[in-house]
Amino acid sequence: MPMSKQLFVTCVFSLAAIALAAKPVTYIFGDSLTDVGNNNFLQYSLAKSNYPWYGIDYSGGQATGRFTNGRTIGDIISAKLGITSPPPYLSVSQNIDALLKGVNYASGGAGILNDTGLYFIQRLSFDDQINYFKKTKEAITTKVGEEAANKHFNGAMHFIGIGSNDYVNNFLQPFLADGQQYTHDEFVELLISTLDHQIMRLYQLGARNMVIHGIGPLGCIPSQRVKSKQGECLKHVNEWILQFNSNIQKLINTLNHRLPNAKLIFADTYPLVLDLIDSPSTYGFKVSNTSCCNADKSIGGLCLPNSKLCSNRNDYVFWDAFHPSDAANAILAEKFFSTLFTSAPSAAPRPSP
Ligand SMILES: *[C@@H]1O[C@H](CO)[C@@H](O)[C@H](O)[C@H]1NC(C)=O
Ligand SMILES: *[C@@H]1O[C@H](CO)[C@@H](O)[C@H](O)[C@H]1NC(C)=O
Repeated sequence: MPMSKQLFVTCVFSLAAIALAAKPVTYIFGDSLTDVGNNNFLQYSLAKSNYPWYGIDYSGGQATGRFTNGRTIGDIISAKLGITSPPPYLSVSQNIDALLKGVNYASGGAGILNDTGLYFIQRLSFDDQINYFKKTKEAITTKVGEEAANKHFNGAMHFIGIGSNDYVNNFLQPFLADGQQYTHDEFVELLISTLDHQIMRLYQLGARNMVIHGIGPLGCIPSQRVKSKQGECLKHVNEWILQFNSNIQKLINTLNHRLPNAKLIFADTYPLVLDLIDSPSTYGFKVSNTSCCNADKSIGGLCLPNSKLCSNRNDYVFWDAFHPSDAANAILAEKFFSTLFTSAPSAAPRPSP
């Protein structure tokens, strides 16, 4: 026990140090919760949000490919780190200077497994994202040489938020094979062993500091609640997610011991999100059991141009049937940031406000 506590403190110190660097470099991997526009570049993808009302509260009020009315959690954390939110990889893949500053590989509909979200036709699975990270590394190595490239990635921060779609757009879909082929225990094992290989690949490519998000209480998102009798949370889904989260935490502990100089942190967003849903008024919200965009039953749970919006978007925890609103993201980012970067012992330097 003291071992893991010490490890955690070391990690927080190291992240705080990176956060304090003049311009921390971040590489982001994930799904629609962190996509900032990669899917706009996938011609046939059905997982898109580049139309009204997405982005209505983003600067300029225009849709960007973010799956929310405003900012993602990543956008808000980037602002707190004093950097601009890393651009979609597919928008800058030929621009070495941009690649050096950090990019975002996240793609709506993506999962840990390649076949997750297959009905979206196109999305960058986590494996695809890692392949693009490899290309990034190769391009940077060509430009600055191998030693400098390794140093660059060793010092960068890597955020990974993936797995929700492996449930919502795979295991929980009765018409797809995985939900029928595997028991939940087997499915978790498949997810964790796949993730193990994927994190190893990132490590081999030079990533050392990684923040890996757990999955939120998916049983309580609007698209799942509508499957219950009275709009309540689906308990069995939340139990499955807790099982996944506890296994990912174990994997991270193992990898921290197995991989020299790896500093992997598990960011457990589940309790935070659940609290927001259970006690919305504590945080200034009025509604947490349905979406502002009245999209609970729409195809894919997305907000459509002909949807009727709620009258006050800041009253709602959920923007559409899957994704938190800008207001909810602001609270989650705030809490998440303070746990990650400022909960170190008093000796740890705090990023200036
Ligand atoms: C998933 O796709 C990636 C490349 O897109 C490939 O390297 C990998 O082998 C695939 N994994 C499986 C299990 O098919
Ligand atoms: C949300 O909860 C309120 C009461 O707290 C209830 O009146 C309403 O029907 C619920 N909506 C849905 C979609 O379950």
